[in-house]
Amino acid sequence: MGSFRVVSEGPLTRPLSGTVHVGGAKNSALKLMAGALLAPGRSVIHNVPNILDVAVMGQLLRQLGCTVEIAYPGDADPTCESTAGRATIDVPEELEHKAPYELVRRLRASIAVLGPLVARCHRASVALPGGDAIGSRGLDMHILGLQELGAVVRIEHGQVVAEVPGGLRGASLWLDFPSVGATENLLMAAVMAQGTTVIDNVAREPEIIDLCEMLVAMGARIDGVSTSTLAIEGVDRLHPVEHTTVTDRIVTGTWVFASAIAGGDLHISGGVAHHLDIVLDKLVAAGAEIVQGETGFTVSTHQRLTSFDVATLPYPGFPTDLQPFAMALASVSSGTAMITENVFEARFMFAQELARLGADLRTDGHHAVVRGVPMLSGAPVVAHDIRAGAALVLAGLAAQGTTVVAESQHIDRGYPWFAEALASVGAEVSRLPD
Ligand code: UD1
Repeated sequence: MGSFRVVSEGPLTRPLSGTVHVGGAKNSALKLMAGALLAPGRSVIHNVPNILDVAVMGQLLRQLGCTVEIAYPGDADPTCESTAGRATIDVPEELEHKAPYELVRRLRASIAVLGPLVARCHRASVALPGGDAIGSRGLDMHILGLQELGAVVRIEHGQVVAEVPGGLRGASLWLDFPSVGATENLLMAAVMAQGTTVIDNVAREPEIIDLCEMLVAMGARIDGVSTSTLAIEGVDRLHPVEHTTVTDRIVTGTWVFASAIAGGDLHISGGVAHHLDIVLDKLVAAGAEIVQGETGFTVSTHQRLTSFDVATLPYPGFPTDLQPFAMALASVSSGTAMITENVFEARFMFAQELARLGADLRTDGHHAVVRGVPMLSGAPVVAHDIRAGAALVLAGLAAQGTTVVAESQHIDRGYPWFAEALASVGAEVSRLPD
């Protein structure tokens, strides 16, 4: 639980200045940890972020029979890149095949163990996940894909139960939508299937490429990495690996929007600009300046930005995870923005909280129209998910008075030391105990 308290006089009144460091991507590290299950022996994943979800995935892997040690060597300085850690995972020859609800419900990404377990054990029983309150988040593509690879899959007592006694067999399949989670699960299942699997219309997010690179380093044979068709030649056995997690593009994007909303000159160390091309292009067109440096890039904002439209789409489209930040920025930009959410239907719950801060917006289905106002007005609000929570904190930087964002545990799930890092670059943000 807990809250974040943000104090401001309005947009651009307290510009941010300094450097923030971005570590490994949550959405990659969790899948890489699941991928380690594919090879008996010791795998080491570097640059894992210091967040609860990584600890929960570690617990889940222990439950499956692994020995897991997660260490954050330089944790003394919370605002420094040394908060990145190392997950050492010792995987046994014989894995447990059951992922229990007590753990899975705390972490939707737990579903990523389904593919590796079916590949290794020829059976799996993974509880149906919970996760963020941002929509129904179906699993039909995960299940259909495994069925096409020869598994018998059923939902039983809240578990996804998959069995394939003779092992998975390669097949040609396609996804109705380039789902990140389905791509990862089917990829991790196919790398040890007999024969060739071709998966069409896969997701192409940098985190998928990161997973492909780790799997290839483990001995998997994957063609078409970074395209929308993956061709996978199954192998009998993979070997353990040391791999470094890709930088978190959503955390990078969050800092970009922090600078755009609060103003100032913010250097984002470790930030990979080309993972955010579409976002940065829009911000530059709106009046921000981006300067590429050797270890990251700097965002400078010294004037009120002009509004821009956003339609979320799978990568390389505008990321759904940055949509709440775009909405927060639009609420204090000059002009009107149309925001269209194409990936998660329930993401607009955030709009109601933003309206409590005085944003002028209307939603209709998956569209929102946001008319910029000169400043927001501080109020108590509630974080419903990771990104909405962080976006409310940033909206607070543009709100005159005090904004208290309750249920900040959601923010901590995605951002190690968010309040502390914001304070280190000049924002008045602090934590309130319960
Ligand atoms: C991942 C990310 C999340 C990000 C999302 C889209 C993790 C832990 N989470 O979520 O932060 O917002 O990608 O970039 O990596 N769908 C189905 N059936 C399926 C699979 C998905 O209907 O079998 C739907 C979902 O309900 C959702 C959409 O497809 O509406 C996108 O889901 P998906 O790309 O799978 O996202 P996640 O992997 O859950």
